[in-house]
Amino acid sequence: MLDLTLGGGISDTLSQAVELSRALLQAEYAAVAIWDGAGEPVEFATAGVSAEARSALGAPPTGHGLLGEVARAGRTLRLPSGAAHPAATPLPPGHPPVTNFLGVPIPHLGDWRGAFYLTGRRVGSEFTEQDEEMGAVIAAHVAAVIQLHRLVLHEREDQRSLISMLVEISDAHEHATEEHSQRVSAYARRIAAELGAPDLDLETVDDGALLHDVGKLGVPDSILKKPGSLTADERVIMMAHSQIGAEIVAGARLLSPLAPVIRQHHERWDGGGYPDRLRGAAIPLAARVVAVADTLDAMTTDRPYRAARPLSEALEELRRCSGTHFDPGVVKAALKAFRPGGEDPLPMAVAPRSPSPWPNSTARCRRQPGGCTRGWDRSSAP
Ligand SMILES: [Fe+2]
Ligand SMILES: [Fe+2]
Repeated sequence: MLDLTLGGGISDTLSQAVELSRALLQAEYAAVAIWDGAGEPVEFATAGVSAEARSALGAPPTGHGLLGEVARAGRTLRLPSGAAHPAATPLPPGHPPVTNFLGVPIPHLGDWRGAFYLTGRRVGSEFTEQDEEMGAVIAAHVAAVIQLHRLVLHEREDQRSLISMLVEISDAHEHATEEHSQRVSAYARRIAAELGAPDLDLETVDDGALLHDVGKLGVPDSILKKPGSLTADERVIMMAHSQIGAEIVAGARLLSPLAPVIRQHHERWDGGGYPDRLRGAAIPLAARVVAVADTLDAMTTDRPYRAARPLSEALEELRRCSGTHFDPGVVKAALKAFRPGGEDPLPMAVAPRSPSPWPNSTARCRRQPGGCTRGWDRSSAP
């Protein structure tokens, strides 16, 4: 029957529904249309016509004609071969001839409406009352799946607006890293796409990256905007941002799945990160991707305490820290995603501004025994 996993979207559901109804009710041709509350077509699917004929059919039906009448009236309409109906309109080019007709409304769509119809009963007989009943069962099934899809879509919209609001508040709070979250999100998306891990949800990466530093809302301005080095105590407060951020989103049902990404975005592959000192694959993959994207942006943009570094140096630094600070697989994907001369340049400029106001500031980054430097970001793991 119909796909209830919601994997394919409304158009897939409707395509399956018309194919199914055409096969079960032995019709030559079937079509389904859904309109929104303003009467605009949402989806239109057909079965039993060639791709050429389908493209000749062009735009979805307007909501008039026999199909529109069935949807408007909310009643099944069954016409024998050759019967006329006052709502019938001329067929568009490419439409198969309508002989007998069975139109079935799709119920319970709220402000939307929809219907499907079949024509060209193949076995030499007309559509029957039993066919009407079967059509109603299919329509009820389609309605349930569409409603589930709409629920998911609404939730996603609500989730997006919550994220946008939090990002705006964060950016307003910390002007120094304005647009940092958008860049990290753009980089994380590219790395995740290159990684191609089947168990990695791209929306989680995207949203987690956008909100990864939302916990800095809980860090006092005196620390967040301090131009010089942080004291040990100040650094502890700064490092609390990953936990604070996870707590902020954990309180919102639509955002709570992002909490692990936010909490763990400063963990290190070798277990030397914070707050939980997770190691290797125990760190959520989305958090490992965000960690690399975050560092890439931190290194390639000016900060109040040091100047930006060129992309080539930043990538070399990722390579040096592969297997210690970062997941080697994620670094490999990042190096491929941002390789020089690649098809798609970085989505936002990362070249250091010139002349830099901090000509010697990269000296703040000290080499560690593992080969990594430190000081990409004052909140990065030591
Ligand atoms: Fe952070
Ligand atoms: Fe960050």
